[in-house]
Amino acid sequence: MRLELDRIGHAFLGRAVFEDLTLSLGDGEIVALVGPSGCGKTTVLQIAAGLIDPLRGRVRRHYGGHAVVFQEPRLLPWLTARDNIAYGLAARGISKAERRAMAERRAAEVGLLARDLDKYPAELSGGMRQRTAVARALAVDPETVYFDEPFTAVDVGLRRVLQDLIIAACARDKFSALFVTHDLAEAVRLAHRIVVLSDRQEGIVAERILPGMPGERDDRSVFDTVQAWAKDPAFAALFDGDRQ
Ligand SMILES: Nc1ncnc2c1ncn2[C@@H]1O[C@H](COP(=O)(O)OP(=O)(O)OP(=O)(O)O)[C@@H](O)[C@H]1O
Ligand SMILES: [Mg+2]
Repeated sequence: MRLELDRIGHAFLGRAVFEDLTLSLGDGEIVALVGPSGCGKTTVLQIAAGLIDPLRGRVRRHYGGHAVVFQEPRLLPWLTARDNIAYGLAARGISKAERRAMAERRAAEVGLLARDLDKYPAELSGGMRQRTAVARALAVDPETVYFDEPFTAVDVGLRRVLQDLIIAACARDKFSALFVTHDLAEAVRLAHRIVVLSDRQEGIVAERILPGMPGERDDRSVFDTVQAWAKDPAFAALFDGDRQ
């Protein structure tokens, strides 16, 4: 077990977001956290990552290091893509040459070209920036990675490429991931397990273990699963009108 959220509750300004939420993340497991806008997905992720303290309940982390990938790339504008990717390695006493080599290896894994690595974020396309953000997260060899709707702002074709990258990286590097998304097809493509967060402060209201392995599900089966779940009351809020 990498992470355990045990009966956590949180509120902002006296307004409860959720109460009594229990969720765990297994070794090498990708859990997709889905739910309608404003239900508290980011709050759960930030509590899990230690960015905010829950008002109630316990968080247990059984890992050395983690990384977070946000919806926006959040790169440092004064550093090149290469130095952004290598940024987290500097604190580890790794030599500059070695840091560059590690950054270049990670960059290649996410499909960045060598010639892009000397560019500054302002000179990169949106997709290249998000690839850089993913490479930066993976560069520190995290045991757990938190993704908060990382691909919402990238176009559909690139979104698939980046999803496949995460699937491959997780299988190779054996990290666990909590992946927040409101895109059920994305969740069905890349997760081992899906949990649904209530928008009525009830915590996790549904859980589904996906058959097969991430990366092995073809488009047809993803489509069929999403269609079937659209009729399932547990997922109703996700398909409720045009809230997303
Ligand atoms: N710092 C904050 N101060 C006050 N209220 C907040 C704060 N952060 C979040 N909230 C409120 O808590 C609730 C949950 O927010 P959260 O960002 O976790 O939702 P979400 O599920 O991630 O939504 P989305 O899908 O739109 O990203 C919302 O009602 C939001 O307005
Ligand atoms: Mg959010």
